[in-house]
Amino acid sequence: MRPACLRCATLRPVAGIRTVTFADGARVPALGLGTWKMGERPEARRAEVDALVHGFDLGLALVDTAEMYAEGGAEEVVARALAGRRDRVFVVSKVYPHNAGRRSAVAACERSLARLAIDRIDLYLLHWRGRIPLAETVRRDGKIARWGVSNLDVDDLDELAGVPQGAACAADQVLFHLGERGIERGVLPRCRAWPMPVIAYSPFDEGRLLDHPDLVRIAREAGTTAATLALAWVIAHDDVIAIPKAARRAHVDAIRAAADLAITPDLSAALDRAFPPPRKRTPLAML
Ligand SMILES: NC(=O)c1ccc[n+]([C@@H]2O[C@H](COP(=O)([O-])OP(=O)(O)OC[C@H]3O[C@@H](n4cnc5c(N)ncnc54)[C@H](OP(=O)(O)O)[C@@H]3O)[C@@H](O)[C@H]2O)c1
Repeated sequence: MRPACLRCATLRPVAGIRTVTFADGARVPALGLGTWKMGERPEARRAEVDALVHGFDLGLALVDTAEMYAEGGAEEVVARALAGRRDRVFVVSKVYPHNAGRRSAVAACERSLARLAIDRIDLYLLHWRGRIPLAETVRRDGKIARWGVSNLDVDDLDELAGVPQGAACAADQVLFHLGERGIERGVLPRCRAWPMPVIAYSPFDEGRLLDHPDLVRIAREAGTTAATLALAWVIAHDDVIAIPKAARRAHVDAIRAAADLAITPDLSAALDRAFPPPRKRTPLAML
């Protein structure tokens, strides 16, 4: 996927939200918003758009979507939320592995652009590795500012680095939360060496993490919520962007609060005791 447009979509930093810088200099907030499961129910669309707009207005100016989500429905929700704000938001979308072929990726990208009602995707990711060789996937043209991958483990990244133009990969989007810390011994150091940011998906383990008694207790002792603490911990890692999904304004507010919560050494130690870091390298976990 050779970038057709190398324009640097550097966003204005919003006070209080740390930024992460791509290899080409584009700077984005470390906190964005996900959209999986949006666009599935017409009656929920208004609230989903409202939650995204609220997040954008609070500086959560990066949105992650995919052609897979509601088979394009989530991209349509994003389009409505982007109306009048396109220049303030960094847009990430993903192509199905079976659409990542020589011609099919261009067509899939055009369909995503039409649903998103924009003329450029800021970061276009291969959603997961399929049967199409990586060497073919990276040679796509399209209206994309930069391209990257998702769910690729260290050995896949090593292979990608070896194919022509593979080094231009801009990010790897992987599962990362307190209960799933495997990348600390694999993908995270590999991406730092590349160098490229990691985009952490499902930072709440799809919501399951937020009821964990230890997390709830530590958050209470720290005077915050489980969601804010779980997210603050993710974005305390340099070069990591988190993309929690929320379809309610109150949830978005708790997400924004994570940017203001410092993970002190004491807090970090308490979280490490409850959610121990990996002792050795394990295969990449994914949903
Ligand atoms: N590349 C990949 O293969 C891949 C895989 C999975 C996910 N992703 C991306 O990552 C994004 C995030 O992951 P995810 O959607 O799986 O799950 P998640 O962000 O870990 O969790 C989302 C759930 O947490 C709830 N929530 C959000 N804020 C909350 C708060 N403050 N308090 C309590 N509950 C809260 C949401 O509820 P409400 O919706 O009701 O607000 C929703 O049920 C996705 O939307 C998608 O964009 C990528």
